[in-house]
Amino acid sequence: MEKIQKIGVLTSGGDAPGMNAAIRAITRSALYHNIEVAGIKRGYQGLLENDIVSLTKYDVSGILGLGGTILKTARCKEFYTYEGRKKAYENLKKNKIDALIVIGGDGSFKGAAEFSKEFDITVVGIPGTIDNDIYGTEYTIGYDTAINTVVEAVDKIRDTANAMNRIFFVEVMGKESGFLALQSAIACGAEGLLIPEVPGQFEKLCKIMKQRDELHKSSIIIVAEGETEGTTFEIAEKFKKEFPDLDVRTTILGHVQRGGSPTAYDRIMSSRLGNAAVEAILDDQKSVMIGIVNGNIVHVPLDKVIKIKKDLDRELLHLSNILI
Ligand code: F6P
Repeated sequence: MEKIQKIGVLTSGGDAPGMNAAIRAITRSALYHNIEVAGIKRGYQGLLENDIVSLTKYDVSGILGLGGTILKTARCKEFYTYEGRKKAYENLKKNKIDALIVIGGDGSFKGAAEFSKEFDITVVGIPGTIDNDIYGTEYTIGYDTAINTVVEAVDKIRDTANAMNRIFFVEVMGKESGFLALQSAIACGAEGLLIPEVPGQFEKLCKIMKQRDELHKSSIIIVAEGETEGTTFEIAEKFKKEFPDLDVRTTILGHVQRGGSPTAYDRIMSSRLGNAAVEAILDDQKSVMIGIVNGNIVHVPLDKVIKIKKDLDRELLHLSNILI
């Protein structure tokens, strides 16, 4: 193996709190091994446009606690084409970048897996998404901060729901998956949960509401944004038809879940993943994602990561069925 002299890093897709902690760890770990670091702006888009800066130890000071990503991020359609990836490869060569670290979600990894197969370039992925929906890892950057944001918001909603005897449908993010919704429901003590992985939950919710104690007048129903029953507004409307006497409101938490200063857990885990990504490159790994399984660092082939759908945690699902 030729000696790695320069590593490129980019953040791609939806930003997630902790991405900056990972950028910092990558930069400082690489410099520790006398490897230069190139920060690629706006994900694959910046790579295609040759928007690349060098990162020093001091460029990454003071960013550990910042949400978002100092490198900025984007969703880049051109990178899905062979011509786009060829241009990206040429820019990597032009900048003498020997290996690339991609911090992002499954969409970003699809491009990364293809890229590393077509061109002679090492690509290492770091799972960064608040959705926690990536196969091969129990942890993704930003998930912990996002779920804490959901808990804080829902606790506040509960105050007003209780005060006015209302039923709130609260939508949480998660694309097509219900990981964030499931754990949010447990953490918030929700009275109902609708996630795309479990059909028929609306009927179950109506049954629970019919049986509920007369004194128990307010409820929080967590809905995953990818729920297949309909949009959260549609579901709330349908519910109102079943329960015309109940006072129903809907809150979409939206992008507030993506922002904010990362929790201590996200800072530590992102730092571990960043360092492990640099070490994987030094170990001559070519096309892997750095994941966490049972608290330990693992290397998962990118090809596998993009082909296999992550399963919901059955134990948590069982728990939510008992507690709701
Ligand atoms: O993947 C992260 C995520 O926040 C999803 O939960 C959500 O579906 C999507 O990104 C929103 O994307 P955008 O910021 O482009 O609207």
